Amino acid sequence: MKYVKLSIQEPVAVVTIDRPDCLNALNSQVFREISATLQEVEANDQVRVVILTGAGDKAFAAGADIAQMVHENGKQGKELALLTHQAGDLLENIRQVTIAAVNGYALGGGCELALACDIRIASENAHFGLPEVGLGILPGGGGTQRLSRIIGVGRAKELIFTCDQVDAQEAYRIGLANHVVPQEELMDACMAMAKKIASKASFAVTMAKNAINVSMSADMKSGCSKEQDLLGLLFATQDKQEGMTAFLERRKPNFTEF
Ligand code: HXC
Repeated sequence: MKYVKLSIQEPVAVVTIDRPDCLNALNSQVFREISATLQEVEANDQVRVVILTGAGDKAFAAGADIAQMVHENGKQGKELALLTHQAGDLLENIRQVTIAAVNGYALGGGCELALACDIRIASENAHFGLPEVGLGILPGGGGTQRLSRIIGVGRAKELIFTCDQVDAQEAYRIGLANHVVPQEELMDACMAMAKKIASKASFAVTMAKNAINVSMSADMKSGCSKEQDLLGLLFATQDKQEGMTAFLERRKPNFTEF
């Protein structure tokens, strides 16, 4: 891979967008490499959590590559949107939990990748924003759909219509960032959360992720029905037996299923 680096420290995979000269701007190849890397990671039974970050200390990703997009027509624009959505869908739906380690600017398509992750942890120098309408386009990598689900329709409309950036503290205040930490502590903080999540019953975590994702598009009745089905499925697992037996025997559980 030219622009995306994968480092596996079981049970965690770190995926790094590596184009620091242009603030990790996302061209078509970067999006393809992110998706290919996530597919590789999803097939790895030893990886339970994926951390997505950007190389350097200035940017997570400063958006889709404007130097590429300036030459593109409508058909190519739609193809780019498809590539960004493929990467976003993987971040949102792979069986592993995904954490965005937002180490600087997360703008446009970069912000949209962070929005597709399950959890966002920001360094103090992080800035989030969707500047697309200032370029004559719209947030076409899931931003018009995911931002409002995370921070509410009113705030999402304001940020998208004004192109205002929010800093890390404001992102935390409005629920866009789960935590804010000093930049030098960012990867340790993400790793600590990843290991905590990986210590739980991984198959149960994946099922909980599925059920929560369903809540974003289903009505209450069908969402609750899905939840009941998944609970029934989990009651039939070895890990449920192990987790509950370990509690009663006052020992740590030894979970095995994924
Ligand atoms: C291409 C980019 C880039 C981008 C930065 N660079 N962002 N190149 N695409 N999105 C390049 C610059 O051209 C410059 O290259 C180098 O990175 C450093 O950037 P500077 O602007 O010099 O840095 P600074 O002054 O610190 O400003 C940082 C910044 C600014 C505020 C992040 O770079 C910026 O506003 N970038 C664009 C952000 C943006 O509009 N993103 C949304 C794109 S639209 P040189 O060669 O001069 O050193 C989008 C659509 C998604 O994402 C939907 C698609 C389907």
